[in-house]
Amino acid sequence: MKENIAVVPVIFKKFKGLSAKMLYGFAKMGKTRISPKHDYHYNHMQNLALVYFNITPLCNLRCRMCGQWGDKGKMKNGRIAEEIKTLVPLERYKEIVDEIAPRRPVIYIWGGEPFLYPNLMPLAKYMIDKGLYVSVNTNGTFIEEYAEQIVRDRWSTIFVSLDAFEEANDAMRGKGSYQKVVRGFEAINREKKKQNSLYPIMSIVTTVTNMNYLVLDQLAEASCSFGLDVHIFNLGTYTNDNIVARQKQYMREKLDTEVDCLAAYNTGYNLNIDGEKLHAILRKMHRTDYGHPIITVPALNPEKTHVYYADLETPVRNHCIVPWCQTDINYNGDVHFCADYPDYILGNIKTQSFAEIYNGDRANRFRKAIRESEGGMFPGCLRCYQNMLFGKKIKGY
Ligand SMILES: C[S@@+](CC[C@H](N)C(=O)[O-])C[C@H]1O[C@@H](n2cnc3c(N)ncnc32)[C@H](O)[C@@H]1O
Ligand code: SF4
Repeated sequence: MKENIAVVPVIFKKFKGLSAKMLYGFAKMGKTRISPKHDYHYNHMQNLALVYFNITPLCNLRCRMCGQWGDKGKMKNGRIAEEIKTLVPLERYKEIVDEIAPRRPVIYIWGGEPFLYPNLMPLAKYMIDKGLYVSVNTNGTFIEEYAEQIVRDRWSTIFVSLDAFEEANDAMRGKGSYQKVVRGFEAINREKKKQNSLYPIMSIVTTVTNMNYLVLDQLAEASCSFGLDVHIFNLGTYTNDNIVARQKQYMREKLDTEVDCLAAYNTGYNLNIDGEKLHAILRKMHRTDYGHPIITVPALNPEKTHVYYADLETPVRNHCIVPWCQTDINYNGDVHFCADYPDYILGNIKTQSFAEIYNGDRANRFRKAIRESEGGMFPGCLRCYQNMLFGKKIKGY
């Protein structure tokens, strides 16, 4: 959708200070797109633009398409009680924030459900006090409870996941979740008014599946009254048996790594999506004034919408820049490049400095392997949302 670009002036006009921080991050990503550094001794910290903090594996919902707790979710392995013993303590997070803050990366906190990490509020505040742009991705079921503090602490952006109007949303995300989120929006709006603040920037993120694609516009209509700043439609992360098998073999051969995360996205919720119908709905929404802009990720050419869901093996983005400017810190302290596929571990922040990990041998080995791969991406990256956001658009798509 070319209309995606329309969001930029709207957001930048309303949120001048924050936009500068966001722009700084984008500029560094742009720099790595133009000239990714391949020198083994280069200090990649210079281009660190975006750091994901996945702070807990716990979640109170069981959204059906979710790679963590959905039908095929990788957290449903019965080891959760062991996993939560490995959480990174707040004090160690603070030390890592101190280390990376001078590089001014954009911060993206997520999970699991981040409100289930016991120290989310002090962690976010610490990051904001360091002058960082801090966004939090949540299922929204706890924001009513924390609204006063979220606004007081001036979180930069809150990305709330909501997939459809009430009935269809609750079929995907669990009974009662829609109303909880709506009450959360109301509470944030009340607090913004009371505290005379524009922050946080409030966004819905909607993941498109075959369960909601025909009724996306109903949510768009309803969201007019939510006081949103933007609504993002994410076309979803999907894969199939063939891609999973190729990725397993490739990662074993090139990086001695056993892959088990990708299969969690082999859910089938992409099947039977009628590209023409979906495109017509997206186009209608992009042309309607709901009082806030709409973004679709990835922005595909209209006639290619069906390819995205039906031909998963056809790349729509390639030449991923993530290993040159981003990273994901997992709840147990492991550091990876890929947020959704944490198979290849670069190091662990409980025992290493961030710079040591980000400039280390394992990081450089991954960068070299992806650079040498066909199209500058691994076989499993075909619908990875980081690649959809930060990969290079393939001509025609
Ligand atoms: C895994 S959740 C974690 C944060 C929080 N629990 C939430 O739901 O927002 C991060 C985002 O991924 C989205 N998501 C879940 N399954 C997905 C899929 N198969 N493809 C793309 N995004 C997905 C969620 O809806 C949410 O917006
Ligand atoms: S709320 Fe988020 S982490 Fe939890 S199941 Fe849903 S998408 Fe997954």
